[in-house]
Amino acid sequence: MVKEQTLKMNSSILDGRKVANQIQEELASEVNKLKNEGKKVPHLAAILVGDDGASQTYVNNKIKACKKVGFEYTLLQFPESISEEKLLANVDRINNDEDIDGLIVQLPLPDHVSAIKVTEHISPSKDVDGFTNENYGRITSKNPGLMPATPYGIQELLKRYNVEIKGKHCVIVGNSRTVGAPMSTIMAYHEYATVTVCHIHTENLPFYTQQADILIVATGQPGLIKADMIKPGAVVVDVGITRIAADNQRGYILKGDVEFEEVKPIVSFITPVPGGVGPMTIASLLLNTLKATKARY
Ligand code: GUN
Repeated sequence: MVKEQTLKMNSSILDGRKVANQIQEELASEVNKLKNEGKKVPHLAAILVGDDGASQTYVNNKIKACKKVGFEYTLLQFPESISEEKLLANVDRINNDEDIDGLIVQLPLPDHVSAIKVTEHISPSKDVDGFTNENYGRITSKNPGLMPATPYGIQELLKRYNVEIKGKHCVIVGNSRTVGAPMSTIMAYHEYATVTVCHIHTENLPFYTQQADILIVATGQPGLIKADMIKPGAVVVDVGITRIAADNQRGYILKGDVEFEEVKPIVSFITPVPGGVGPMTIASLLLNTLKATKARY
């Protein structure tokens, strides 16, 4: 078992980078143990299609994390023009590769390829993003499969900061299949929160967000949540990360869905962007890869 540590609450930042590093240290010692016992070292494969800068950065960060903890990794890169058929054939190949324990296909995919079809083609036992229907359905099983990585990372982040969830009102803004929808199930079913799910069609959004003890925002709309939409003392988790063109060396800045500077003074905890949910998603991916490896051997 990966040893869990609890972080001291000495600031109002939910520091995803720090917790992710802690998890990576735990995983690195687990890998050493596996090696010493002559057992299988986890192996993650990543498929990247096209040359979108943000996707390249995310995949590079996932590979870097594998290197750091001692996992094996394989990166498969394909041009934007790859056919759906060829991509599915590569997913099949990895599904059947005994040495590979986990597979992610970085999203978004080009328009001529169905992301749902490709994702659903991944063997549920290797689906370390937790995107397949089987893993989604098993969230409410007594024996969950591979949990959706971002919601799982948020759950772990809140847990390691001892944020009280049971009985609290958790408002989620965003109903996506990868974040909002599974997050609502995890919070209600596993954590006993009282959950409200809002989204872009919600009328009078502030009415709901102002009632949130825990507010989780995953809309991809930078700066959507302002200070006057927050209940003082709330815990705020910002999943959004959007590149905004800027006159700096990189040519952009990263912005979350929450107006961080104006919201921070009135909340008890808040995740920064970057350095909040992003690193926790990667940590969850690694935890899932270890789980997938152990389940197969
Ligand atoms: N694109 C944006 N976030 C993710 C993620 O968590 N997994 C995959 N596969 N693609 C993404």
